[in-house]
Amino acid sequence: MNVVMIGAGYVGLTTGACLAELGHRVVCIDTDAMKIARLKRAEVPIYEPGLSELIRRHMMAGRLAFSDDLASAAPQADAIFIAVGTPSDDDGDIDLSYVKGAAAELAPLVKSDAVIVIKSTVVAGTARMIANLVAEIRGDSDVHVASNPEFLREGSAIGDFLEADRIVIGADDARSADVLAELYAPLRKKGVPFVTTTTTNAELVKYAANAFLALKIGFINEVADLCEAADGDVAAVAEGIGLDRRIGRAFLNAGPGFGGSCFPKDTRAFAATGRRYRQPQTLVETLIQRNEARKAKLAAKIIAELGRKGGRVAVLGTAFKSNTDDVRDSAALTVIPALLDAGIAVVAHDPKARKATERLVPGAAWRDCPYEAARDADALVILTEWDDYARLDLRRISGLMAGRSIVDCRNLFAPHEVTRHGLKYVSIGRRPATPTTRQKAKRAGAGAGNWSDIAAAPA
Ligand code: UDX
Repeated sequence: MNVVMIGAGYVGLTTGACLAELGHRVVCIDTDAMKIARLKRAEVPIYEPGLSELIRRHMMAGRLAFSDDLASAAPQADAIFIAVGTPSDDDGDIDLSYVKGAAAELAPLVKSDAVIVIKSTVVAGTARMIANLVAEIRGDSDVHVASNPEFLREGSAIGDFLEADRIVIGADDARSADVLAELYAPLRKKGVPFVTTTTTNAELVKYAANAFLALKIGFINEVADLCEAADGDVAAVAEGIGLDRRIGRAFLNAGPGFGGSCFPKDTRAFAATGRRYRQPQTLVETLIQRNEARKAKLAAKIIAELGRKGGRVAVLGTAFKSNTDDVRDSAALTVIPALLDAGIAVVAHDPKARKATERLVPGAAWRDCPYEAARDADALVILTEWDDYARLDLRRISGLMAGRSIVDCRNLFAPHEVTRHGLKYVSIGRRPATPTTRQKAKRAGAGAGNWSDIAAAPA
């Protein structure tokens, strides 16, 4: 099939490349001429594992092209995806002007029987509103509008597309359902289930799915706080409840609070929709507040860990999760400014997200390797679960640090792995662990360290 993808952002590029992988001919369109010029040279503007290779392969095979000329590409397309941005306003409601703008531009260009597919995450009723808009502009109802939400995680988007848990097809007419079924037919052959429903239901599925996943995270984070107080271990609790197939283990990793481009924005939009229909989504409203408060509380916990004013903290990881350079709503954006405000010097490291972080939160010093960031630090804080951090040589870290505390917000280590190097280990959902007298003596014998911090720090 001939596909046009409007919007060469994260979702548009990944979906476009993956539709080419399914055998379709895809043209990705963007109004940013510079971006298109770079993409034509196979320079991919975002970091997503495997995406550059996939794009290059399909460009060479002639299945994937980039253009800023919608008027030339649209008339040949059987399906035109709209994957443009939907920024939030202060209430959490999303701004649909780019979606409407793209649909209005498309309306006179596309052939009869073409299907406009809304890929952008939009609130219930949007596809129907767009269908009316397109019909009004064209003066006929020959063009169809469908909804096909994406469930791609940054960092594993290609796998999430090609081995999807399900494809949700929102179609209010038979032509839309047929075209979308044909587009995704190779996935159906691989056994991926299809949910074919109305456009409104498809739009609700997207928000309800993200809200539910975010609630799982918010729930386990509160359980983690209880575990810390009650001398439990949140990982054991998550395992114990996660093996119940009705619950499932996924998305039960306690951490610094969720971030990223989707959960914070989508939960706010879902809550705003609830308010608009006078059906408040109280659980989600509370979740949003608790998640924000968690990040602020974390900053306070780190400051308390220093046990005194000022000092120096190494922050490892500023991306909202590993394998991405995205820092939107990441814990680091709350924690770093709070530490700086408290007069603490911050020395940061992230394998991919330095530039994006520096743009949003200036004031931290940066190092190219985690060990350099740890040098002379009074405390070391891990905010992102990069594999490199899980493999840190803690003995070396211990030798480099001035203080003794590691605050690990991703539970990358077993407590004894940290304490045996004479370090205090503060993690999530477990009591802080301090080195035993023997471990302290061993380290003192090695001639390094300063135990005053441990003595001063709250247990
Ligand atoms: C999410 C959804 O997973 C995806 O389906 C949707 O299309 C877009 O939003 P993404 O934002 O890329 O994807 O990342 P995800 O892996 O879901 O993580 C979101 C946030 O939750 C991150 O901050 C992550 O660190 C946090 N998280 C996730 C946890 O704290 N614990 C978990 O168990 C899982």
